[in-house]
Amino acid sequence: MTLSEIPAPERIDVQAPEGNYAIYIGAKALKALDVLLRLHGLGGKAVIVTNQTLAPLYGEPLAELLGTALIVVPDGEQHKTLETVRRLYDELLALGVDRHGVVIALGGGVIGDLAGFAAATYLRGIAFVQAPTSLLAMVDASIGGKVGVDLPQGKNLVGAFKQPVFVVVDPTLLPTLPDSEWICGAAEIIKAGLLRDESLLDADLYRRDNKAFTDVLRRAIQIKVDYVQRDPYEQDIRAELNLGHTFAHAVERVSGYTWRHGEAVGFGLVASARLSHAVGLCAASLPERVEALVGAVGLPTRCSFEPSAVRDAMRTDKKRHGEIMRFVLLRDVAQPEIRDDVPAQAVLDVLESLRS
Ligand SMILES: NC(=O)c1ccc[n+]([C@@H]2O[C@H](COP(=O)([O-])OP(=O)(O)OC[C@H]3O[C@@H](n4cnc5c(N)ncnc54)[C@H](O)[C@@H]3O)[C@@H](O)[C@H]2O)c1
Ligand SMILES: [Zn+2]
Repeated sequence: MTLSEIPAPERIDVQAPEGNYAIYIGAKALKALDVLLRLHGLGGKAVIVTNQTLAPLYGEPLAELLGTALIVVPDGEQHKTLETVRRLYDELLALGVDRHGVVIALGGGVIGDLAGFAAATYLRGIAFVQAPTSLLAMVDASIGGKVGVDLPQGKNLVGAFKQPVFVVVDPTLLPTLPDSEWICGAAEIIKAGLLRDESLLDADLYRRDNKAFTDVLRRAIQIKVDYVQRDPYEQDIRAELNLGHTFAHAVERVSGYTWRHGEAVGFGLVASARLSHAVGLCAASLPERVEALVGAVGLPTRCSFEPSAVRDAMRTDKKRHGEIMRFVLLRDVAQPEIRDDVPAQAVLDVLESLRS
């Protein structure tokens, strides 16, 4: 297969301090990976990292197409650890991957974070390509260069910035994604819509039979790209991408990580919109609209946890600033505002109002 035999993938260029990279978006784009590797001058030994679920679906056919080795790790966030990275180093060494080698992450955000962290550190860093397979990884995790692993003390506590050489977003991989994961990706796209693009706030877009979904992907990716280009190391404006996430991280933690991240983001968007109204920032219609959309997509709009437990969990958030709780609030759609002065009681009241 050559690039000329498949529909030419669309290309979005990302400017990063370490060098620019391209995101290729299009049906069957993954089949062009061998051409793309050559186009980008990646002639060294390539190794695909994937998980046990994705290996038979996409990993083995891709390894055959590229004539490369496949490293398969167990599926699940509980394996996003230094132990798994250590295993990746062992396998890369055993395969004879040298400084000219390239690691291809084929999977959701867990694989991207794990393989990216291994690529950032193995031999002080080798080339890295992202081939995201989950909706969340396509629109969020694969863009922006953040890679890393969890520690027993908390999620994503060890990591690095490692830009890929390129990213391949192939929507033809999405039909096998479970519905529960699909809606988690939708939560991050709705977040992007609330921050920047009102046209993404339509529940029909997130139907699995949406024939125009590639357009949704492109618009969501462009929003994340705009943020990471303006603020590659998350010094200021990129923090807006944490809309809904102060609530979400706390709910995930209180649930003992039985809530998926995207589910918690869905709830967090509803809570943030209510909080925005509670502090007098936006009209009452905004939280109503957010709740209707989040609910229509199938994401939770209520949670059963004790409000004080959720509020306490916010205090241990990695992204907290001292004792200050930082929230991204909304004046309106596409008018986010970062606030450090939200009264704790307002947060508790919102959580109480959303208790199931
Ligand atoms: N680096 C970043 O900037 C960033 C941003 C957001 C999230 N993340 C990280 O990403 C992770 C979450 O990513 P995720 O939601 O993709 O989870 P995931 O990687 O666990 O994937 C979710 C599930 O879907 C399966 N799957 C993925 N693609 C599939 C497909 N096409 N067909 C069938 N099954 C498929 C996976 O095997 C897995 O079981 C978290 O670890 C989070 O910390 C990182
Ligand atoms: Zn998120």
